[in-house]
Amino acid sequence: MTSEGDAILEIYEKRFTPALHVYWPIAIKRGEGIYVESTEGKRYMDFSSGLAVLNIGHNHPRVIDAAKSQLDEYIHTGGVYHSGIAAKAADRLVSVTPPGLDMLFFSNSGAEAVEGALKVARFVTGRQGIISFCGGFHGRTLGAVSVTTSSARYRKRYHPLLPSIYQSPYPTCFRCPLRLSPDTCGEACFNSLEEIFRHQIEPQEVAACIMEPVLGEGGYHPAPHEFLRKLRRLCDDHGIILIFDEVQSGMGRTGNWFAACHYGVTPDIITIAKGIASGFPLSAVVGKSELMEQWPEGAHGTTFGGNPVSCAAALATIAAIEEEDLLARSERIALRSMRRLKIMAGYSPALADIRGIGPMIGIEFVNESGAPDSVACNRVLEYCLANGLILINCGPERNVIRFIPPLITGEEELDRGISILEEGVTSLS
Ligand SMILES: Cc1ncc(COP(=O)(O)O)c(C=O)c1O
Repeated sequence: MTSEGDAILEIYEKRFTPALHVYWPIAIKRGEGIYVESTEGKRYMDFSSGLAVLNIGHNHPRVIDAAKSQLDEYIHTGGVYHSGIAAKAADRLVSVTPPGLDMLFFSNSGAEAVEGALKVARFVTGRQGIISFCGGFHGRTLGAVSVTTSSARYRKRYHPLLPSIYQSPYPTCFRCPLRLSPDTCGEACFNSLEEIFRHQIEPQEVAACIMEPVLGEGGYHPAPHEFLRKLRRLCDDHGIILIFDEVQSGMGRTGNWFAACHYGVTPDIITIAKGIASGFPLSAVVGKSELMEQWPEGAHGTTFGGNPVSCAAALATIAAIEEEDLLARSERIALRSMRRLKIMAGYSPALADIRGIGPMIGIEFVNESGAPDSVACNRVLEYCLANGLILINCGPERNVIRFIPPLITGEEELDRGISILEEGVTSLS
């Protein structure tokens, strides 16, 4: 007899275009805290946090209560009426974004926020050029994919993409694009920006630089502090708008509200999605008001952006992070995880690098010759799944595990998760 899960998977295969990628062949019937339960009744710890969305876990009671009460009031305003809950969510969100980023536009997804950020930058500066960083991921809509280079597969057959987009190497120090050492390179890859200005487009024609302060899909590489400081100065010198895409690294994922806060570098615009509303669709382009107020009425729009139920969920998410002290807790999670993962890397030759900021940790797998090893990475991921731990990978070679447990994970649960991972790594040899 076909199981419920198999029947669901069959419908997926029949009804959803194969373009839709789902990591694991399981269907879930319940999610609570750090756990999901499959249709077959198997319980998993979800250390993918639903792909960096459920920083406060599945179905957080505050989020459920807030969404339910909003459902009883109204669920849609569109561009027809104003909404008190959207106003509150906007006020609350800018109270946690980096200083000076105080005016926003709500939309529905990360890609849509990126589109909005690129549009406002072009509109306000009247310039065309956009610089993004090789290896970056910004989403799947045409504008977002035009600045995305984490994999050529995501761009294949969509050319020509947006014009006037230029790529500079991302400072992926563990796999340096220039094969230099991060201790002595003096951020040599930063010079590529100067090269772009010298040979391809003058800085006065560049509207924006868009960058993930911690590279996500591209392999979980945090940018070096000095690189971001230099980038901020460069943008200031030439009137270029600096956009930080914090769709993945934001909302507490790095142990701070935003990765920008770790760096002490404030962009002009930040894009936020994923963790913002704990699973309800919501995103935001948040920028300095002197910039955002130059985007006149009608220059952008949305039907569903700032949905009241999503806004209620966002308010509850921010309250949970604050009142449950989850930023401090996430630092403890990061320390505990890093300590054990680094010990593992000390004895397992398959683990070449453990890196990250806060509990946004990448675990890189290599083979005997030091080349990226996606086979070993997948074997470990599959071992973990079979033993009740959900993790996912990233990186152009898919050889990096994203270790991103929910920020509510308890010490005992964290230890249990890491032990499963460790068994998986040990089973390689
Ligand atoms: C940094 C970053 N930007 C943008 C996106 C796109 O977000 P969405 O899938 O919600 O469109 C993602 C998604 O993974 C992301 O990680």
